[in-house]
Amino acid sequence: MALRNGSYDGGFVAVGEEVEVEEEKEEEEEEEAAAAMVVTTRVGVRRNLDGEQVRPLKLCIIGAGGFIGSHLCEKLMWDTHHSVLAVDVYGDKIQHLLAPGKSWSDRIEFYKINIKHDSRLEGLIKLSDLVINLAAICTPADYNTRPLDTIYSNFIDALPVVQYCRVNHKRLIHFSTCEVYGKTIGSFLPADSPLKKDPAYYILKEDESPCIFGPIEKQRWSYACAKQLIERLIYAEGAENDLEFTIVRPFNWIGPRMDFIPGIDGPSESVPRVLACFSNNLMRGEPLKLVDGGQSQRTFVYIKDAIEAVLRMIENPARANGHIFNVGNPHNELTVRELAELMTDVYCKVSGNPRPAVPTIDVTSMEFYGQGYDDSDKRIPDMTIIKKQLEWEPKTPVYDLMESTLTYQHTTYAQAVKKAMSKTLAN
Ligand SMILES: NC(=O)c1ccc[n+]([C@@H]2O[C@H](COP(=O)([O-])OP(=O)(O)OC[C@H]3O[C@@H](n4cnc5c(N)ncnc54)[C@H](O)[C@@H]3O)[C@@H](O)[C@H]2O)c1
Repeated sequence: MALRNGSYDGGFVAVGEEVEVEEEKEEEEEEEAAAAMVVTTRVGVRRNLDGEQVRPLKLCIIGAGGFIGSHLCEKLMWDTHHSVLAVDVYGDKIQHLLAPGKSWSDRIEFYKINIKHDSRLEGLIKLSDLVINLAAICTPADYNTRPLDTIYSNFIDALPVVQYCRVNHKRLIHFSTCEVYGKTIGSFLPADSPLKKDPAYYILKEDESPCIFGPIEKQRWSYACAKQLIERLIYAEGAENDLEFTIVRPFNWIGPRMDFIPGIDGPSESVPRVLACFSNNLMRGEPLKLVDGGQSQRTFVYIKDAIEAVLRMIENPARANGHIFNVGNPHNELTVRELAELMTDVYCKVSGNPRPAVPTIDVTSMEFYGQGYDDSDKRIPDMTIIKKQLEWEPKTPVYDLMESTLTYQHTTYAQAVKKAMSKTLAN
């Protein structure tokens, strides 16, 4: 498959994919040349939501090599005139943007930096107009097995970023999480209470809903608590020291390049987030593991829709500063069990594989995540603030986002998974 470039709407680039055939290379070069022309003409003058011209910005994106960072960098390179100082310990997911000779090559630089201990960070922040911090440990399997790393990553390591922004008068867009809401009020009502159906008890509002976490022994909440404290600190910096900030609370952003497939492009013993876990099971023909019955409810938003919201935050500071934004799709609500069923149906369609005889098995959270696990029951974002401030609404239905994502997973990984499985059998 040739790499496809040139427009953020133009498809996904597979990670680590080798273009083997010479003809494909030529095709690719032709496509790139065409894409470069498209980029030049497409970008033109950019205007914000108030019709004002947006000047080219230099963005320092920390965690640029991750799932969200890679999509944000693509969007910025392909569809805007902004430039990026991309900071991460890991750059594989943006290699396709960093390769020399692209039409945007002078607008992106990669810095392999661990923000825990690298004195270059403040210098990069000083050079930029805007800082976006995405860097974090953000995988549920880590929260109760590596709680110290989780707390350090989400609070201690984020602290200097906030301070450098304050001291150097830089605007900050900080990525928090919908996990800061914890459990809903509704989850504490008796099972047969009619109030459970009242949205007031489960819809999550940025400026009204409480943050309800479990006891300290439930170390699962280490992530949410660290994120909440850094949110409070950023908010206080805004109130007391005029830090210009925006806080983003993502509600399950889903798409290609999310996490890794264990044993293929990540450690075999690691447990990625649910999308990659289920994709891995599907490609291996294994049943999908449903933790505690898969009853938790989540809403899923397509990464491309969500990135559009982030771009609006970048280009509309007057509308975004001082705000906390839920970014999700309340219409794409599923229980984890329903998600497993949907992914199985869609994967069978895109791969041509038959439906497995045993599609799911139940496991306890103790077996799957170990001691100290707990969960939020339901997470439905209220969208009033982002709709009003940024005129943003998600577009992609859950079936469509899953079809696009699983097509990517299948194209990128299925052969490698097959090979790894036959090697294991042979040994
Ligand atoms: N994807 C979602 O749906 C979702 C949901 C809630 C919150 N978030 C938040 O959004 C942010 C980005 O999430 P993502 O899904 O892209 O995660 P990700 O794990 O794919 O990306 C995070 C990136 O940060 C980098 N990083 C971590 N520690 C670092 C350090 N010390 N120095 C340099 N780089 C470091 C990692 O290498 C990784 O590339 C995180 O803060 C996460 O908590 C995401």
